[in-house]
Amino acid sequence: MPDPQPKLPADLHGERPDRAAPEPVPFERVPAKHDRVAGQVAGPVAGLAASRNPDHVAIIMDGNGRWAAARRMPRLAGHRAGAQAVRRCIKAAIAHDVRWLTLYAFSSENWGRPAEEVTDLTLLLRHYLRSEIAELHREGVRLRVIGEHARFGPEIRAELEAAQLLTAGNVTLTLTVALSYGGRAEIVHAARRIAEAALAGRLDPAALDEAGFARHLSTADVPDPDLVIRTSGECRLSNFLLWQSAYAELVFLDVLWPDFEATHFADALQAFNRRERRFGARPG
Ligand code: FPP
Repeated sequence: MPDPQPKLPADLHGERPDRAAPEPVPFERVPAKHDRVAGQVAGPVAGLAASRNPDHVAIIMDGNGRWAAARRMPRLAGHRAGAQAVRRCIKAAIAHDVRWLTLYAFSSENWGRPAEEVTDLTLLLRHYLRSEIAELHREGVRLRVIGEHARFGPEIRAELEAAQLLTAGNVTLTLTVALSYGGRAEIVHAARRIAEAALAGRLDPAALDEAGFARHLSTADVPDPDLVIRTSGECRLSNFLLWQSAYAELVFLDVLWPDFEATHFADALQAFNRRERRFGARPG
């Protein structure tokens, strides 16, 4: 397994006033330069030093419905096209030596969609697992799932567990799929476990620090995302990796998820590469 992202010294976690440095760019909307281009995976971005590549890219895949509506197609067609974009995205991540990729496939709030769409998404997920897992395994992808995925029922749960077991030893890319995931629910769950441990005398509340809290999150064994991408032009996190994204660079792409190509992944890496990451600190 690749080394986890080095942790910051505790005193650098808080923001400090920073007058000398240029204004940071909190986020950047990157126009889609590439409409539909051939689905070839480009090599690493020219001029992008390997050390500047993010270790962990997390993506809010948005715009399936609008993609379908623009074509007067049912939403399911958008989700199907979105599943194909997932394939391209994984290949692009591997081509760029990204070691951790997290995809927001279904939020806690998505249960509020019409039952028909929830069923469509559940069946699509099952189909994806069955048709893709062998290929993912061949490519060295380790699959992980976060979120309350048991809500999808015992069949999907068993398939997800089998897929995670099959790919557990792979090291090329760790793909985390967030299913029935909500950042606030995850934080509350961690707080509850910590409170229970404290009540049982297994944890000293005064000794709890950020690293100790993070060990109770579903991402305990995953480095924080360096880069969070959202497609479709919307500029919000929508309850995705709230704790983990504290210092992530945010890139909002003006492309609907089903149109996402390797070139968009490269655009986002280039935007990441232009950022100066200081984690609230500044050189002495
Ligand atoms: C957001 O688009 C997308 C989703 C809620 C589902 C994401 C699912 C996929 C990409 C396909 C399946 C994924 C896997 C991992 C097999 P939206 O429906 O909110 O689009 P809209 O905002 O345009 O309506």
